[in-house]
Amino acid sequence: MALSLLRLACAAALVPAALAQIIVRSDPEPVATAITVDGLDFSDAGDVTTATLKGINFGCKCYPGEWCWPSTAKWNVLNATVEGRLRVNIPPGAVCHNTLTTPLGSLNTYDAAKCADVQQNWENELWHTNHPTSELWTYFTNDTCRPTQNPTDSCTLGYYGVYVIMATKAQHVKAGIDFARRNNLRLIVRNTGHDFIGRSTGYGALIINTHSFQNINWINSYNGPGGYTGGAVTIGAGVQGKTILDAGHARSPPVVVVTGECPTVGIAGGFVQGAGHGPWTTLKGFSADNVLSFEAITASGQYVTANAAQNPDLFWALKGGGPASFAVILSVTMKTFPDLPSTGATLYINTTHTLDPNVFWDGVGTFHKWSNHFVDNGLYVYFEIFPFTFRIRPFVAIGKTSAQLQTIIQPFLDELATKGIPHEFNMKSFPTFYDLYVDLFEGETPGSSALTGGWMFNHKDVATNNGGIIDAFKTVASPRSDLVGLMVGHLFNPGYGAPQSNSATHPAWRNATDFIITILPVPVGSSLAQKADLQNVLTNTMDAALRQASTSGCTYVNEADPYQPNWQSNFWGSEYPKLRLLRLKWDPLGVFYAISTPGTEGWEVIDNGTRLCRRLDL
Ligand SMILES: Cc1cc2nc3c(=O)[nH]c(=O)nc-3n(C[C@H](O)[C@H](O)[C@H](O)COP(=O)(O)OP(=O)(O)OC[C@H]3O[C@@H](n4cnc5c(N)ncnc54)[C@H](O)[C@@H]3O)c2cc1C
Ligand SMILES: *[C@@H]1O[C@H](CO)[C@@H](O)[C@H](O)[C@H]1NC(C)=O
Ligand SMILES: *[C@@H]1O[C@H](CO)[C@@H](O)[C@H](O)[C@H]1NC(C)=O
Ligand SMILES: *[C@@H]1O[C@H](CO)[C@@H](O)[C@H](O)[C@H]1NC(C)=O
Ligand SMILES: *[C@@H]1O[C@H](CO)[C@@H](O)[C@H](O)[C@H]1NC(C)=O
Ligand SMILES: *[C@@H]1O[C@H](CO)[C@@H](O)[C@H](O)[C@H]1NC(C)=O
Repeated sequence: MALSLLRLACAAALVPAALAQIIVRSDPEPVATAITVDGLDFSDAGDVTTATLKGINFGCKCYPGEWCWPSTAKWNVLNATVEGRLRVNIPPGAVCHNTLTTPLGSLNTYDAAKCADVQQNWENELWHTNHPTSELWTYFTNDTCRPTQNPTDSCTLGYYGVYVIMATKAQHVKAGIDFARRNNLRLIVRNTGHDFIGRSTGYGALIINTHSFQNINWINSYNGPGGYTGGAVTIGAGVQGKTILDAGHARSPPVVVVTGECPTVGIAGGFVQGAGHGPWTTLKGFSADNVLSFEAITASGQYVTANAAQNPDLFWALKGGGPASFAVILSVTMKTFPDLPSTGATLYINTTHTLDPNVFWDGVGTFHKWSNHFVDNGLYVYFEIFPFTFRIRPFVAIGKTSAQLQTIIQPFLDELATKGIPHEFNMKSFPTFYDLYVDLFEGETPGSSALTGGWMFNHKDVATNNGGIIDAFKTVASPRSDLVGLMVGHLFNPGYGAPQSNSATHPAWRNATDFIITILPVPVGSSLAQKADLQNVLTNTMDAALRQASTSGCTYVNEADPYQPNWQSNFWGSEYPKLRLLRLKWDPLGVFYAISTPGTEGWEVIDNGTRLCRRLDL
């Protein structure tokens, strides 16, 4: 860990005094917030508006229709600064509706050909990630403006932003950050729109789209600070997992980086800032553990390099400290590894094999009992538990032959045989991990509305309480008589073998065995009361069951319930206090915001998911 204690002490000393400078004038007068922290100049920050809700005073971001919303002339100046790349945001489904109603007025949006295109691609991940603002998991857009056969259906912005900058250069990103800070606008950075918990959308926001930053520069032997001298690659903010794996495979000899399992998730956006786990994680740690340097722009609008030598505190925080919190990343430089011959396997238990739920769950439990054994032998395993469908696809054994993988899996297969649990098992070897990845990993189906949660089980949990874990899975699968929950599991241990944490990730990860994502579908058109009910089920029945079966006290900021109790310690453990201070140093006014990230305790989205505000009494 490369935290500069001097700078941290400095920030800690300055921040309380700086915050004390907030001048609260009486409502409806604005609240002045301009401050300077540790040489980062925020003196041009826009005034906040005030609101009172249930007796609590808030200072809010500025929204269309308010005195503070920038004039058309100001937006035109911004548009000139970004070389004409500012757009009014049109949600992806609007082309199927006659009218899009926005706070700026109504637009005629219907276009039969474009509507047919949306309808056809609504479940196509790449189509969504290439759209300027589309959020793949629609719940956090308020499920607004879905494609329809009936053009008279209403279409509003919902929880989408108002304007988007289609940035192609660093100065476009800076212009967006500066404009948001000076005008006190909600700012959203949007890379692929993959976020499960809606952190790349926001009501009334100015969005910066970073997806066109597609540069990839290979470095044969790194000679930057930090002592590492192996292969590396600099990856632009918009590059997706499959793109970098393709490019690495085309090298001679082929190389890889730690990406996620999903081909269309980004690398340098939310993924690395959350931690970033994937098929290589058991062998090489999180994506964040492998970062050598970032290029970024701060909330105060400064270009910075963050690595072991320059801004080491920011470097550390960007490695797993939470997305959209410390800076906007322009590029990341990370270690590469030689690709290796690999073996994969799949195992299915579903209605093809048994109709007996006890047999089904016994199969799941038998697999899970062996999960410590799998990660302790260097495997990564991805699996899904859907109603009466257990799919392990795949077991990943990088650098191992089929004989070696067979030996590792055999005790589990033997136990299935002894218990008479029917299943289908297949195994296949590949010349490289890349070939395995292309063959055995699958895309996901976006466009649906769901809440997601998740929890990590460590070695001790599996060794001492596997039965309790499986009981918790059953609770997740049927949390209430009228509901069905789904699970996606990942066996990995970022502490296996050599990988040491040098990132801001929770220390408990280094004993991980299984990270489980929970999913609770939400019917489109649910009322606010129905949504609150389902959120309660996710937090207090499904994820609560997982938490109770576990001793790890840890989950993953990118794939978890943002409304869970104690998110600070569950996401970052003993690293949290440092992260909170660093947030106050690098973004004291909250130019950036993502739910349940360091230092956002005072922030709240009020008025039924619309206005982002900060409590003034904290
Ligand atoms: C189908 C699916 C599979 C997944 N698989 C994995 C997996 O295998 N491993 C894993 O670790 N995670 C996985 N994830 C979770 C993933 O890490 C998060 O969804 C992550 O936030 C995606 O980042 P993004 O930049 O692609 O998405 P976006 O939705 O565009 O952004 C996510 C967050 O990052 C912020 N952000 C984006 N770009 C920048 C930037 N340049 N600078 C600063 N902030 C930025 C956004 O503001 C937002 O808060 C998966 C998610 C999905 C939906
Ligand atoms: C920004 O400028 C471009 C080029 O002149 C124009 O096409 C676009 O409509 C403008 N954006 C806005 C929001 O006015
Ligand atoms: C969000 O959806 C709810 C229904 O769940 C609706 O009552 C509310 O008006 C919507 N708000 C916005 C801003 O779209
Ligand atoms: C059930 O398992 C079989 C393999 O035995 C597989 O071909 C099929 O796709 C599985 N069904 C589901 C729904 O996963
Ligand atoms: C891992 O687990 C062992 C045994 O339970 C424990 O002694 C150790 O402290 C744990 N390490 C971490 C990083 O949590
Ligand atoms: C929030 O939603 C509730 C229930 O629909 C409604 O009564 C209330 O007026 C809404 N508040 C705002 C500020 O929109």
